[in-house]
Amino acid sequence: MRLLAGFLVVSGLWGATRDLVLFDTDSGLFGDDGAALVMLLRSPSKVSVQAITIVPGNVWGPQGAEYMFHILDLLKRANLTVAMGADGPLLHTIAMAREWGRRWGTLSYIGAFAQDPTAAVIPAPGSKLATRKPRRDAVNLLISEIERHPGEVTILALGPMTNIALALRMKPDIESKIQRIVFMGGNIRVAGNASNAAEFNFWFDPEAARIVLRSRIPQKVMFGLDICNLAPIHKAEFDQIAAVHTPVTELFREDLGNRYPGFLKKPDAVAYMWDSLAAAYLLEPEFVTKSEPRYLDVHTTWGQFYGSTVPLDRRVAPGATPVTVMLGLDFKRVFGLYKDRLTRVD
Ligand code: RIB
Ligand code: CA
Repeated sequence: MRLLAGFLVVSGLWGATRDLVLFDTDSGLFGDDGAALVMLLRSPSKVSVQAITIVPGNVWGPQGAEYMFHILDLLKRANLTVAMGADGPLLHTIAMAREWGRRWGTLSYIGAFAQDPTAAVIPAPGSKLATRKPRRDAVNLLISEIERHPGEVTILALGPMTNIALALRMKPDIESKIQRIVFMGGNIRVAGNASNAAEFNFWFDPEAARIVLRSRIPQKVMFGLDICNLAPIHKAEFDQIAAVHTPVTELFREDLGNRYPGFLKKPDAVAYMWDSLAAAYLLEPEFVTKSEPRYLDVHTTWGQFYGSTVPLDRRVAPGATPVTVMLGLDFKRVFGLYKDRLTRVD
């Protein structure tokens, strides 16, 4: 038996049981996207991250790539592929967001739309600009990785779904070759966090989210605001991680402490695990205590409800598969996993 186990490890077959993950992100300096990446890269027995693809959302693509390179350097994983994809959402623009605000009131969060898309990339605080450049072919990379491993790839979608929608439109037959998509986005019974009606990732690119929800991808797993609102991070949780001193926890402290949500200046602030909940699902899915299947769509008529999650009229997308909507969780368990991975020493 022991001999067989040794053979499996040496021959690499042990790795065959791991999830192959394509990590699609709109990461800022660290936040929830960065935490999600750290969690996965520190769980090599469970997942193998094949590539990181960058999508505009929290920040524009070149800046997002720079932040990812910085985290990869801290984790000593500089050789992992990073590729940028779309330069912006399919239809949504800064002008539309501005006009939306004028007509219907201030939006709570507009991400990269508040930033100059032509501004020079800045390094992470206290470090130099990365010397390497991201690839520019994220959409083709998604397609080729899915075709290379039919039925084996999990897409972890942590930002607007622009790159993924473009890949599905360029090569529709990859839909059935994807094992599953696990995504953070959308809201069903709770209010949005970009507009009152819509969650940020769906709001930033509603048309892209619609393409994904109407697709035939065999499994769609949704971490929307309904479950994410049950996983807040308060100063007490922040302190548990910031008390440990490693390069990753220092970055966590800088970002959540001095930027969003600013715990060091505003001890009553709240952040949410968001993308790191979706990542945790790839490692310990048992933390989810309640879920239900739903056929879902996205409201794409520009107006007050732009980007909100709505029921799918199945007559317009008869091939669409249902979404498993995550609704309940064991917070102690999932925060324990988050804290463990974030505070490890590499
Ligand atoms: O609504 C939360 C989502 O918006 C998360 O993915 C966060 O990173 C931001 O992109
Ligand atoms: Ca994100």
